[in-house]
Amino acid sequence: MRRVYLRFGEKDVSSAMAAGERKLMIERHRHSLARFGYSPHALYWESREAQEMRFKVLSEIGIMAGDSLLDVGCGFGDLYDWLISHDLPVDYTGIDLSMEILDKGLDIHPTLNLQQGELFDFDWSLLSGTLSWCLKDEGDYARRVIRRMFELCRKGVAFNLLNSRTFDAANMGDIYAFDPAKIMKFCRDITPYCELHDGYLDYDFTIYMKRDP
Ligand SMILES: C[S@@+](CC[C@H](N)C(=O)[O-])C[C@H]1O[C@@H](n2cnc3c(N)ncnc32)[C@H](O)[C@@H]1O
Repeated sequence: MRRVYLRFGEKDVSSAMAAGERKLMIERHRHSLARFGYSPHALYWESREAQEMRFKVLSEIGIMAGDSLLDVGCGFGDLYDWLISHDLPVDYTGIDLSMEILDKGLDIHPTLNLQQGELFDFDWSLLSGTLSWCLKDEGDYARRVIRRMFELCRKGVAFNLLNSRTFDAANMGDIYAFDPAKIMKFCRDITPYCELHDGYLDYDFTIYMKRDP
């Protein structure tokens, strides 16, 4: 069986993305895939190098070979390839809203566990670039996702966001950036074991949230 569809939203409709935004997200990636094909540009990344730099920083939360890992907004599943090429074979599941992007990912990785949906339950939950779109909700959905990812994971969560201190999203209607200090405070109210990482790319920051020190 190539994929299993999540029945997300059945128990917790309030956490799900609004239906209109979800449709827009799927449309957006349909167009970018048609334009760029299998490429980081179809995922709105600036380059393969920047995509992989994000993978490197996320993976340094403490992932070990054999861990299970959920990649939220996995795109084509490129994180899996990156982990394998860095001697980190993991029990990988990717979820993404865009069936078109997942289908292309499955062409490239026919045996990878890629599922359509929003969230699930794993040791680690990683998210790269998924929350950079402006949903016109002041970051509410992003905070719900972060909180829910942490509730669902057994070991921890690592995610990146665009940094509002270095990236001026005000003139880019579709993009949303976050203040690292405010997101850190939000995360620390969930778990004391949080770390902020920045300086690895101009416009990004990464936060690790763990259950144990
Ligand atoms: C910037 S791309 C990054 C893809 C992948 N993480 C990578 O770095 O190669 C963001 C992806 O998140 C997906 N996405 C956006 N919002 C999502 C959500 N709430 N749940 C699951 N996937 C989502 C999009 O369809 C897109 O494929």
